[in-house]
Amino acid sequence: MADLITFRAPAASDAAGLWRLARDSGSLDLNSPYAYLMWCTDFADSAVVAADGDEIAGFVVGHRPPTGPDAAFVWQVAVARSQQGSGLGRRLLLAFLDRPGNRDAHWLTATVTPSNAASLALFRGTAAHLGVACEERERFPVAVFPAEAGDHEPEVALRIGPLPAD
Ligand SMILES: CC(C)(COP(=O)(O)OP(=O)(O)OC[C@H]1O[C@@H](n2cnc3c(N)ncnc32)[C@H](O)[C@@H]1OP(=O)(O)O)[C@@H](O)C(=O)NCCC(=O)NCCS
Repeated sequence: MADLITFRAPAASDAAGLWRLARDSGSLDLNSPYAYLMWCTDFADSAVVAADGDEIAGFVVGHRPPTGPDAAFVWQVAVARSQQGSGLGRRLLLAFLDRPGNRDAHWLTATVTPSNAASLALFRGTAAHLGVACEERERFPVAVFPAEAGDHEPEVALRIGPLPAD
């Protein structure tokens, strides 16, 4: 079957779809609808949507951290359950790096919880695909999360790069 997926910038009209996809995709922390609106508008140059016709098949939202602007930081990446495991996650990360806000980044960064095997495989596999290293270190220990919000794993920071220039 032909691949009808296209990669494009998000718009405000996509934000509700991103929120639904994040809610339904599995293991993501679900942010407020307003946060997805901000990522789809103020941060649209460092975000990408995978569109399958009128449906959103996946997305990456991110930013260039003010304290480390040589990195393109992935805030969230998600692929619709029906499309997981078919390579779309990696294609989304590569499309994310090609967005106007990210093209000059030297590093691809993210945080991942240790039990998220699919996410770890996605980032490690993308580093291998690009032929660069994937450094891993704990960034946010359990103690910095509010205990009353329920159990939260630590977040491990991944730093992939240095990225190829083109
Ligand atoms: C993480 C996620 C985006 C990966 O997207 P995907 O389209 O399924 O990933 P891909 O098909 O591109 O696979 C990428 C790699 O991960 C591996 N992988 C995919 N699903 C996996 C799983 N459940 N367990 C272990 N490895 C897995 C693939 O084999 C591939 O490895 P390779 O590079 O060695 O070939 C997707 O599983 C998802 O949306 N999960 C829920 C949301 C989430 O956890 N986001 C990440 C938060 S940091």
